[in-house]
Amino acid sequence: MPSPEISEVKARVDIVEFLSRYLTLKPSGKNYKARCPFHPDDTPSLTVSPEKGLWHCFGCGAGGDVLGFLMRIEKLTFPEALARLAQEVGVELRGGGPRAELYQACQAAADFFARQLLSPQGKAAREYLLSRGIGEEEWARWGLGYAPESWDSLLRALAKLGLDTLKQLGLVVEGERGPYDRFRGRVMFTLRDDQGKPIAFAGRALGEGGPKYLNVPNTPLFTKGTILYGLDLAKEAIRKQGRAILVEGYTDVISLHAAGFPETVGSMGTALTERQARLLARYTDRVVIAYDRDAAGSAASLRGMVILREAGLRVEVARLPEGEDPDSLARGQGPEAVQAVLEEAKPFHRFFLDSLSERYELGTMEGKEAALAEAQGLWPKIKSLPLRAELAQGLAELLSLPEEEVRGFLGRARPRRRVPEEKTEPGPEELVLYFLLAGKLPPQAIPDLEVDDFRPQYRPIVERWLEAWRMGKPPSLEELAGELDPDSQSVLAQIALLDIEFKDPQRAATDALIQFLYLPRLERRLAALRSKLEELRAQEDREQLWELESEFQRLCRERLALLRRRR
Ligand code: UTP
Ligand code: MN
Repeated sequence: MPSPEISEVKARVDIVEFLSRYLTLKPSGKNYKARCPFHPDDTPSLTVSPEKGLWHCFGCGAGGDVLGFLMRIEKLTFPEALARLAQEVGVELRGGGPRAELYQACQAAADFFARQLLSPQGKAAREYLLSRGIGEEEWARWGLGYAPESWDSLLRALAKLGLDTLKQLGLVVEGERGPYDRFRGRVMFTLRDDQGKPIAFAGRALGEGGPKYLNVPNTPLFTKGTILYGLDLAKEAIRKQGRAILVEGYTDVISLHAAGFPETVGSMGTALTERQARLLARYTDRVVIAYDRDAAGSAASLRGMVILREAGLRVEVARLPEGEDPDSLARGQGPEAVQAVLEEAKPFHRFFLDSLSERYELGTMEGKEAALAEAQGLWPKIKSLPLRAELAQGLAELLSLPEEEVRGFLGRARPRRRVPEEKTEPGPEELVLYFLLAGKLPPQAIPDLEVDDFRPQYRPIVERWLEAWRMGKPPSLEELAGELDPDSQSVLAQIALLDIEFKDPQRAATDALIQFLYLPRLERRLAALRSKLEELRAQEDREQLWELESEFQRLCRERLALLRRRR
């Protein structure tokens, strides 16, 4: 949840007036349109909604709130953008100049979590850390701690810092019934800047319930996607070794340091940003990526690798054994296994080509087309001439196609991006998200939503939304935007600004829910039941068979009812 100051600043800025300093805005219904400054745009693809306080480009997908716009266009961090706007609209940021007070408060919070870990209450957390091989000597070094299972232990212990400060740091959240601790019953990780100053926190759940890792939102000290976990402890080693090892998770970083790879830093689970790439490039020109296998091949990771290349780094990708992350590999098979995997790392373009041939059937026409389409998606992001040449050549070889034609195809922009009229139709999934954000989903359906039912790019949004809703208050778009990294902010704006008219919004929401959620779930249960029935028939287990058959019939009737309800 954004601090009162951030809300105050945003409330005082007129998004239309502000954006029109950079763009020529033309009214269009309730909204405004302009040419997008973030990609070559000959049609006005950027929409601004004064009502929602958001902007979004249908051409390149960029979007967010007014602070996000300023960050992007002037290449500022969140604190820089906030400071600039605050000054302009006359909001005084506490500790505005030297943010010394906030830094001190953050340190105090880190100390508090560390004390709790060592207290009697911290027993389960201590046992958890030890069970994961993170020994006592590492707790202080990494700033590990524990947030007690209580609504106000931090609030009470740090009361002298002032409620406002705690809220600004994202440690305390304002609920309907007053303020409460954001982190409860979690093992805490202190996030520090490259100078080693604590600026934010993440907490890992000890038991079930809630997201596995909970992070603070963007604050005056911390913007998502601008730091690398462990850089303060790794930077000397990175310089000395002449390379950095990049992993995803907090525990991966801690484990690899312990296993003798002190040049390891963490990207913290989200797609890598330009800022992180530039940060790393200050210390080295070579990076080895060690993500787990599924993560490495994902579109978001591939884009991250290109961003690293574009920042001037030599990028290699290690291939971890199936089902392992660096932490499990180091603990399970020892440093030698990690060393072996790192030595086998391949240059980015080799990795990309190999991953294409692993994921697609390249002997078939369809396989070749799919691989080409994926490469085409990445192509505009690759500016390096030699890398382009390597890729085109490798791809031509891989697909047994003439190189010039492959190059020609890759260079062609994808038609859908150019013509704004041909917007991608939002499917039932997008509609469910749209109605959720608009507060128009039937309330009884909300508990049925599961984060994992959604595509990965929507998950952070749904997760944050549900989190706030479970705390008793559906978040406003503005609050939600403050919780998200720049990429997710763009996705948020894209969905919230979908321009669709509904004759009967209630009906449309129900239809979307049925198509996206209820029907597929039912189909899955029917499929499971079907194979179970077959098994029972083979075993001639009549009693159970009878029971399951009537269950099967019941589900079929339910499905029919659902199908009828959607017209
Ligand atoms: P993983 O789920 O791979 O976690 O997410 P991990 O680090 O291996 O965690 P353990 O071993 O189960 O404790 C990788 C990283 O993604 C971010 C965190 O930075 C995490 O370390 N993440 C993951 C989140 O921010 N939120 C989540 O809910 C999950
Ligand atoms: Mn792990």
